[in-house]
Amino acid sequence: MKILYAASEATPFAKSGGLADVAGSLPKALVKDGVDARVIMPLYGDLKLRDKLEYVTNYSVPVGWRSQYCGLFKAEVNGVTYYFLDNEYYFKRRGLYGFYDDGERFAFFSRAVLETLFYIDFTPDIINCNDWQTALVPVYLNLYYRHLDKFNRIKTIFTIHNIAYQGKYGTDILEDTCGIGRRDQHIVEYDGCANFMKGAIETADKITTVSPTYAQEILDPWFSYGLDALLREKQYKLCGILNGIDTEANDPATDPHIAFNYDVNNFEEGKAKCKEALQDKFGLDKDGSPVFAMVSRMVGMKGFDLVQSVADGLVDRGIELVILGSGESQYENFFSDLCGRHPGRVGTYIGFEPALSQEIYAGADAFIMPSKSEPCGLAQMVACRYGTPPIIRETGGLRDSIHDCTLGEGNGFTFAGYSAHELYDACCRAQDRYYSKEDWNNLIKYDMECDFSWDVSAKSYEGLYNETANLW
Ligand code: GLC
Repeated sequence: MKILYAASEATPFAKSGGLADVAGSLPKALVKDGVDARVIMPLYGDLKLRDKLEYVTNYSVPVGWRSQYCGLFKAEVNGVTYYFLDNEYYFKRRGLYGFYDDGERFAFFSRAVLETLFYIDFTPDIINCNDWQTALVPVYLNLYYRHLDKFNRIKTIFTIHNIAYQGKYGTDILEDTCGIGRRDQHIVEYDGCANFMKGAIETADKITTVSPTYAQEILDPWFSYGLDALLREKQYKLCGILNGIDTEANDPATDPHIAFNYDVNNFEEGKAKCKEALQDKFGLDKDGSPVFAMVSRMVGMKGFDLVQSVADGLVDRGIELVILGSGESQYENFFSDLCGRHPGRVGTYIGFEPALSQEIYAGADAFIMPSKSEPCGLAQMVACRYGTPPIIRETGGLRDSIHDCTLGEGNGFTFAGYSAHELYDACCRAQDRYYSKEDWNNLIKYDMECDFSWDVSAKSYEGLYNETANLW
């Protein structure tokens, strides 16, 4: 089975969010299972590990009525071949997205993915596209390549990592920039806009999302950002597969960034040392209080408004808080201010600092993730692996991966309603449990033994790939 995994970011080369982790770790797991999975992504100006890249060739790619240069490079990491598409005009910029011409940049990239197949000795059975940036791949495949021998058997899967970002533009970009003529524009038009994700939902052979619960949720207007009606119509080809995490890169036994390495046999000593180091770093009191932490982009979707409502209350109850992230200024300001108001009780770091995040996963006692919506979420799984029980709201992949331990077997503390009271209550339950040493240690052990590796989910993808390849 040959899979081309098309993504706009993938570790270890470029990352802005969870998509990069998945694009870096799922293909690796597939290759380990004997699947020939290769990744294709843009060659960004600030790409990491540039010295690993090897030039292959170059060609022209149609972008509307023009032709643009495309250079092809490749590299091999962890047994996975990565292809990089180079065009400095589009990709030699600081950062990955957020430019005025993102629509054109990723129309180019999507078209270039297909053109590349003329120049490499690899014809995939399936192209697995991810999010709006690669959503035009199945559209272009059907419109312009399907009649060619090389392409007529290729199937496409479109994976939605976050339905909030659809690639929406004015319809005027369709003909001139995307090269999609009047007759075909209905494929990508939705609600009076050009909508790349809509095009993929129409044309891909299968649609997947990153957790079973999210696959249900996006059929509902509360979660769908306007696409529920279309998705209900296409439900026959929709399914959800829970992401895994890279258990080698996220391993407290080998993690070079944490104060003391530990595993399930010596976590008591290990976590205590990591906690002390964390408290020292943030100037927190070492008086036996539990440390609850959050590592997240500071945006509304992640539930920061709930945390904001309960933060002072939690500190008053004797819980220390550590918050790392950046994003909307209202939250950045609130948590900086909270830190100033509670010296020795709250630590705030505004920014993203991968090494410090790992120190927090290891040193915190519990991990807060009260998202309003969470397609999958990886941080809660990483927290478990580091023996840091998550406190989560039951949505998307959080609901599928974390189960409440209050009344029975479980790996964390959960609540259902999007309410500050329920979050507060879940935090109190976690704090009570924390003071019962034996129960808490049993919970940590249980969490560290949860299997969030790709072993299970990669098999689900393989099943789906086989089913899709055999479609008519
Ligand atoms: C997006 C989602 C997140 C998911 C990740 C990887 O970032 O918001 O929930 O874990 O993609 O699929």
